[in-house]
Amino acid sequence: MSRGIFITMEGPDGSGKSTQISRLKEYLEKEGYNVLITREPGGTVISEAIREIILNKDFTEMSPVTEMMLYASARAQLIAEVVGPAIDSGTAVISDRFVDSSLVYQGMARGLGVDTVYEINKVAIGDYMPDVTFMLDLPAEVGISRKKDQKELDRMELESLEFHKKVAEGYRSLAAKFPDRIKTIDATLPIDEICGIIKGEVKHLLR
Ligand code: TYD
Repeated sequence: MSRGIFITMEGPDGSGKSTQISRLKEYLEKEGYNVLITREPGGTVISEAIREIILNKDFTEMSPVTEMMLYASARAQLIAEVVGPAIDSGTAVISDRFVDSSLVYQGMARGLGVDTVYEINKVAIGDYMPDVTFMLDLPAEVGISRKKDQKELDRMELESLEFHKKVAEGYRSLAAKFPDRIKTIDATLPIDEICGIIKGEVKHLLR
């Protein structure tokens, strides 16, 4: 059986990933793929339980290393239980966030270092690196104010503007480091235009 494809959507909080993910799902289904959508942290019973701990806004004392390990644990379970088997059986998997979120939020914004965070995550993900990653680029201020309008903010979203600026900047430098895999898209463009760019890249990947 041929290997499926693995696509991840990244970007600062409020960058509009979910809308693009549902559009991409429709497109891939039209192309004949079985499509599985998942999100991080979460996507399995255990990973969703870990998510509750990570995002609980009362846990302000959580150390950056604990945070990194929890994200990696949720990811390890998701890979073992869902993503790995799906890709191995030919499914197209689209994940709302993946390892790049840890490299940026924990490695850069928390300051643990990209190499350290990558080493820990290698144990969690094995060979399952995304085939392509779309990074929806958005100024930190815009993302957070969009989130505020939608829901009560979680522990990460309640971080300072300075933290969210480091995240936005971190994504840009990560994308510059891996230009073949990470495609940067201006998240302030109209939804249809973003969707068109993503489809174009995926078409190229499928060829
Ligand atoms: P979520 O509500 O899923 O945010 P969004 O809708 O913006 O994707 O919450 C996930 C939060 O966790 C988000 O603030 C990013 C953060 N995060 C990390 O810090 N490290 C990680 O490895 C992952 C996957 C997410």
